[in-house]
Amino acid sequence: MPKDGSVTSLDGLGKPMWLVLELTYRCPLKCVWCNNPLDYDSYASKELSTEEWKQVLREGRELGALQLGFSGGEPMLRDDLEELVAEAESLGYYTNLITSGVGLTPERLSALKQAGLKQIQLSLQSAQRTLTDQLVGARVHDLKLDTARRIKAAGFPMVLNVPVFRQNIDQVEEILALAEEIGVDYLEFANIQYYNWALLNREELLPSREQIDNAEAAVNRARARLGKRMTIYFVIPDYFETRPKACMNGWGSIHLTIAPDGAALPCQEVRVIEGLEFPTVREHSLQWLWHESPLFMKFRGDEWMKEPCRTCDEKEKDYGGCRCQAFLLTGEASNTDPACAKSPDHHIIESAILGSRKPREHKPLIMRTPGGTTVIPS
Ligand code: FES
Repeated sequence: MPKDGSVTSLDGLGKPMWLVLELTYRCPLKCVWCNNPLDYDSYASKELSTEEWKQVLREGRELGALQLGFSGGEPMLRDDLEELVAEAESLGYYTNLITSGVGLTPERLSALKQAGLKQIQLSLQSAQRTLTDQLVGARVHDLKLDTARRIKAAGFPMVLNVPVFRQNIDQVEEILALAEEIGVDYLEFANIQYYNWALLNREELLPSREQIDNAEAAVNRARARLGKRMTIYFVIPDYFETRPKACMNGWGSIHLTIAPDGAALPCQEVRVIEGLEFPTVREHSLQWLWHESPLFMKFRGDEWMKEPCRTCDEKEKDYGGCRCQAFLLTGEASNTDPACAKSPDHHIIESAILGSRKPREHKPLIMRTPGGTTVIPS
């Protein structure tokens, strides 16, 4: 990698093509797999102002960002969302709202349409009211279905995101039928990643290999039947693959996340890695944060790699996997992601899978709450 920190690999050509604004970590839901930090409530008083977010948008475009996600927490909790969407549109971004649907009233939906929003990704957790409501800790299942229909009626491309884990993976066929009835254009079965709240609940959330295979077979049958009417994504979770995921397409390559307090991050989970500093847009330009900050330089390119990654002929494909997962599971972020079968730590993944399969007493799930003390029966 050149000493000036420019990115030479991959298709981003050194630009943060994907910019994600985590407008807030506040959320009305308590999902047991939430990827927000465990101490998310400590950021509520530090959120960027409307003007500060607008400055981020301007600097992001100057850096070459094109795809923009408004995320959270629940971005609908920000009253200035429509204003930020309008600003992003005027700057030429392709705008995407990532929401639970809570707070997306008919009035706000039409205001967002008017502001120029291009796409909405709505989350749904199951095909059954009781299960959805239990998993997210609120009565929102019916509201989500209504919202899905209104999004479609408003003329947005309908993207339905379904986080997948042991409790709902056997419902793939029912969810497919529901999505077909709503007229979903893109259905994403997102096998969850095990960070933060999901890692706390991993033993209970990990599906079995058999469940994954059955779900994938159902998806393939639906793909054959529906053809181009609905695009269905289903990615096998990295715990069940022998090679790691190419996390973020490589650290500091094309992804740039701005956290609610303005910290510029190479991924949404990176605060789990101890010993790093997280400078914000309040102190530095986005240009500096992306090109020069020690955080983005830390694992950019391949000079940081140890064996077996360093000499691996697949390193250009997977970049050694996920730095956050490597840290969480091995205590050292520069280690090979243990999801890789070549990693000397791969046994950690194997025993997690084994542990979740053993006949045992199920533990209650820990819900996302300050202190994480609310539990529901598993
Ligand atoms: Fe942080 Fe993978 S989630 S590098």
